[in-house]
Amino acid sequence: MPAVLEVAGLSKRYKATPALTDANLVIEAGEIFALLGPNGAGKTTLIGCVCGLVKKTSGTVKVFGVDLDVDPVTPRRDVGLVPQEINFDPFFTVRESLEIQLGYYGRKADPARVDELLAALKLSDKADSQTRALSGGMKRRLLIAKALVHRPRLVFLDEPTAGVDIELRRDLWAYVRKLREQGTTVVLTTHYLEEAEELADRVGIIDKGKLLLVEEKTALMKRLGERRLEVKLRDPVATIPDGASTGTLSDDRRTYVFIERAGTPSCADVLGALYAAHLPVAEVSMAPSKLEDVLIRVLRGNGGVS
Ligand SMILES: Nc1ncnc2c1ncn2[C@@H]1O[C@H](COP(=O)(O)OP(=O)(O)O)[C@@H](O)[C@H]1O
Ligand SMILES: [Mg+2]
Repeated sequence: MPAVLEVAGLSKRYKATPALTDANLVIEAGEIFALLGPNGAGKTTLIGCVCGLVKKTSGTVKVFGVDLDVDPVTPRRDVGLVPQEINFDPFFTVRESLEIQLGYYGRKADPARVDELLAALKLSDKADSQTRALSGGMKRRLLIAKALVHRPRLVFLDEPTAGVDIELRRDLWAYVRKLREQGTTVVLTTHYLEEAEELADRVGIIDKGKLLLVEEKTALMKRLGERRLEVKLRDPVATIPDGASTGTLSDDRRTYVFIERAGTPSCADVLGALYAAHLPVAEVSMAPSKLEDVLIRVLRGNGGVS
């Protein structure tokens, strides 16, 4: 089976600005892929090249195995996009905008599907309101409903939860997981790294138009994640045991701190060594690594290119 999306040597220049440079990326069916990077990194440009909103400068894009230079229309019928910017005709009702969207993708009218999405995105009681009367959060939800109404096999969510309250964000996360269970492939960009941490199977990190790294999330976190172990001691200790020598003791010799990198030795190994040496452990705390820390390290150039 061909990859859902295959981007090779993809570049986009806006006059003097290289927005995207030689991007290579393969996305497989059924995964949630998070594209991360600072503002202006090229995320929306990459998505735009796939969805037809941006004209690439060079490179190839294949969707479901079809080169978009050969057939730009057919494969895109099975793609959905939640754009970063809110853009719909304010004078249609919520229901009408979903019906129009179905038509736009060449699908037959499907009231049951429209109702299902209205319910899933908690818009049923707004079905007959004009879209201009919606709150910001409701507009976001309508954008998501519009992107999904034609049952796309590949969905791009470009900052889908920007400005959305935390409760709705969690609802959307649950919905994205449901989409994946149904076999939909999801590509997500987000400012909220906990969102990517929560949802993504793989992540790509992009900066200044260059895709720096593409890796499975858990492998990346293991490789670049750091965990901080802090041990408070009841009494000052003279020395730390060999097995914990990679950590440091505070000046008052009552706090021991160890940073786990790449898993060896692990926090558990070090803690085991402290206990085995009968150190007077009073309190143990551990802060897990966050995707945010990993992203910062990669952007600073400490990530290694894979
Ligand atoms: N229509 C455009 N005209 C000129 N420059 C653009 C345009 N769209 C994006 N850019 C530039 O391309 C770069 C990448 O932008 P973008 O893909 O929107 O980044 P991101 O989505 O990661 O924030 C930025 O430097 C941005 O200013
Ligand atoms: Mg963007």
